[in-house]
Parts: sequence; structure tokens; C-alpha cells
Amino acid sequence: MRTKLVAGNWKMNPTSMEGAALVEAFIKQIENLWDLDVVVCPPYLAIPRVRELLKNTQVKVGAQDCFWQESGAFTGKVSARMLHEFCCDYCIVGHSETRGRFGSTDLTKSTLGYFAETDETVNLKIKSLLYYSINPILCVGETADERAAGKTDEVVAKQLKGALKGVDGAEMYSMVVAYEPVWAIGTGDVCGAGEAERVCAVIRATIGDITDDDVADSVRILYGGSVKPDNSRELFAQPNIDGGLVGGASLDADGFARIVLSA
Ligand code: PGA
Repeated sequence: MRTKLVAGNWKMNPTSMEGAALVEAFIKQIENLWDLDVVVCPPYLAIPRVRELLKNTQVKVGAQDCFWQESGAFTGKVSARMLHEFCCDYCIVGHSETRGRFGSTDLTKSTLGYFAETDETVNLKIKSLLYYSINPILCVGETADERAAGKTDEVVAKQLKGALKGVDGAEMYSMVVAYEPVWAIGTGDVCGAGEAERVCAVIRATIGDITDDDVADSVRILYGGSVKPDNSRELFAQPNIDGGLVGGASLDADGFARIVLSA
């Protein structure tokens, strides 16, 4: 039986003070809810304060990205080793906003991402996180063009195989995978529950091919992309969807609490 997990990806939104106010408002609404995992992923600078506020609660803290080297001349980067020092339990990798073309400043093409993330760099990040016992939340998903071309399953399988290369069966138990169709992120255009379930089943089958059925059965697969309080219940009720990765809606304490309660 897989424990449901709901993670909030705050992206580059709340400051440390705003994040503190957000968790204070949110935590009161989910007290005594110990049978599911809840994670918030603040911007790096808000992690210490949020972590302190959540220390005696069931809510875990995650980061939104990391760099795979431990230390060195990598200006602006944060390593898994540094996240470990702040007791981060989870870290998102391969989000569509960090995959894509390097150095683009074209904000009209936001779904293509601004950074140079590839399946190979995602793989290195995952290995670094696993070394520090941080659970990676690996995002996979197709763009609108890839979906229109009927390539959804192929794209997702390729991303999984690239990102999970060399990750062994035992390590796979720490992994969380999030199916995040790029066209659904931040658009309000949520993937229908039936189709999200279908792709999550493809993801589970692909994990089974890479490892084995027992591992595939135990890995949690989340859906992400315009999850809201009014669609989360149906999504989370699907047999292969074990919770959600929530962006915009996790910035509203009441709305995020309703999404968590729906799981
Ligand atoms: P959204 O973002 O919920 O705002 O669509 C989800 C995500 O990017 O993880």
C-alpha cells in the first residue's frame, strides 16, 4: 500500500517571511493528519525558516532543484550536500521549468524552460540526492506539440530511462515520480483524470521494465499541472496516482489544505 504524498512547489514566489506566514496558516488546517506525506518546497533562502517552523509537525521540507557536484567553482549553485545540512527530505529534479534551452530570456515561451537541464544532468542530480538520503521527486512530461504528435508515452519513457540510469532497485524505493504534462503547468488546463491515470500507468510499467514489478508497485507517482481544490479529489482517486505536485495552488494556505485533505 503506497502512502499518498502531496507536495507544494512554491517556485520563486514567497520570501522567507511570506513562506513562514504561509506555513503558519496552512499547518493549523491539517493537524493530526499523519496517514499521508505532505511536503513543501520553498525557494532555497526560505528553507531554514520554514524548516524550523515545521520541525515538530508531519510536514516535510524539500528543495526545488540542486547541482550534482558537492562543492567547487559552480557560481550560484546549491548542492545536495548543502540541502542535507538543512535536513531537506525531498528535492524536485527535472522540472519542465528547469529543462530546456540554456539562457533563454523569452518569457512568452515559459513552458520550454530557461535552464540547460537534460536527462543526463537529471540523472547526476538524482544520484547525488540519493547519496545524501534525500528523496528525489523526478518530473517527467510531454509538451503540447509532443502530445499532438502522439509521442506522450515515448517522451515520458525516454525521460524516465535517462534519469534513472544506474539507479538500483533499493534506491528506487526512495524515488518519487511526478507526471507533469508541460501544457498543463500553470495554465489551468488540467489533464483529465482518465488520461493522467493512463500515463501514470505507463510510467509504472516503465519503472517495472527498468527494475522489477515489486519496485514499480511501491514507487509513488504524482500528478502535477493545474491541480486545484476542485479537481484534486478525482485525480488522487485514480489507482496509479499517489498524490500531487502542486504549484500555484500551494501558495494559498486554505486551498493547499483542501488539496491535502482531498488526498
Ligand atoms: P501548477 O504547477 O500547479 O501551478 O500548474 C505545477 C508544477 O509546476 O509543479
